[in-house]
Amino acid sequence: MSSLSHPPTVPASPPGVDALASLLRGRRAVVLTGAGCSTESGIPDYRGPGTRARARNPIQHREFLRQPEIRARYWARSLLGWPRFASATPNAAHHALAALEREGRVLGLITQNVDRLHHAAGSSRVIELHGALARVRCLDCGAMEGRDGLQQRLLALNPGFSHQVLELRPDGDAELTSEQLSSFQVPACLGCQGTLKPDVVFFGDNVPRPTVDEAFALLEEGDALLVVGSSLAIFSGYRFLVRASERRMPIGILNIGECRGVELADVCVEAKAGEVLPALVSSLARS
Ligand SMILES: NC(=O)c1ccc[n+]([C@@H]2O[C@H](COP(=O)([O-])OP(=O)(O)OC[C@H]3O[C@@H](n4cnc5c(N)ncnc54)[C@H](O)[C@@H]3O)[C@@H](O)[C@H]2O)c1
Ligand SMILES: [Zn+2]
Repeated sequence: MSSLSHPPTVPASPPGVDALASLLRGRRAVVLTGAGCSTESGIPDYRGPGTRARARNPIQHREFLRQPEIRARYWARSLLGWPRFASATPNAAHHALAALEREGRVLGLITQNVDRLHHAAGSSRVIELHGALARVRCLDCGAMEGRDGLQQRLLALNPGFSHQVLELRPDGDAELTSEQLSSFQVPACLGCQGTLKPDVVFFGDNVPRPTVDEAFALLEEGDALLVVGSSLAIFSGYRFLVRASERRMPIGILNIGECRGVELADVCVEAKAGEVLPALVSSLARS
């Protein structure tokens, strides 16, 4: 018997796909993404299972501004971590969200991520609530510098630093000793010798008002909200869930583990974004 007489095999959808597809069908969704969207690209989150402890010791905006030793520790760790962060590539979740935007099912993204992976996947309307690590800003004159260029300056100012540290701690995720930090050279602004800061919003700082306004305006245009990979523990993201609920928008949450405000959602799916979102694209395309 010819195999042509059998109906084509449709792979079983992960649980939750149908519910999310019903929620989004015929609507144009705004998607709010968090660190969970990028874990499958190898970038750890803050509050996922196993990483919750990390959230207790985030870098504080005020400390960074006031304490040169905090800045030295930040840039020393950043010198070590940047190559891995910069080489991360979009995963199936990022690609699926870009496809949904191309198909007109997603209006745009509001992201709490600072990794630029939505852009890399081809999403075009992306509001970066917390900035981007790929840019560095001078706190004194406002000049911007690319993080890749700064990496070259960090390496030139601190020759042998990464080898020395990696030899001491082969796991690469070292707490640096005060001796190592005291000799670490922090680069200054090329134009004015001012203090450099990654162009991201640290804890204790506020998202710039124009960015918040732009994100609320995007939400107003949409007729559903989908949250992907965020604990919504941070108010700057949570407020969009609250506003969507006030506007009585249909709300879906796709997130593993605890998530603030789940009671406001119509559909909650606890599964991997990189598995559910591609299946969602296929499911919506069939309908
Ligand atoms: N990739 C990044 O750019 C990055 C990474 C870490 C932290 N941050 C910053 O830290 C803050 C963290 O807040 P947040 O709410 O975005 O993250 P979070 O760490 O508080 O929450 C991430 C959530 O995603 C879930 N998750 C992990 N992997 C998942 C997967 N494959 N599929 C579905 N869910 C998954 C986790 O269990 C957790 O509930 C943000 O402000 C962000 O700026 C950014
Ligand atoms: Zn400057």
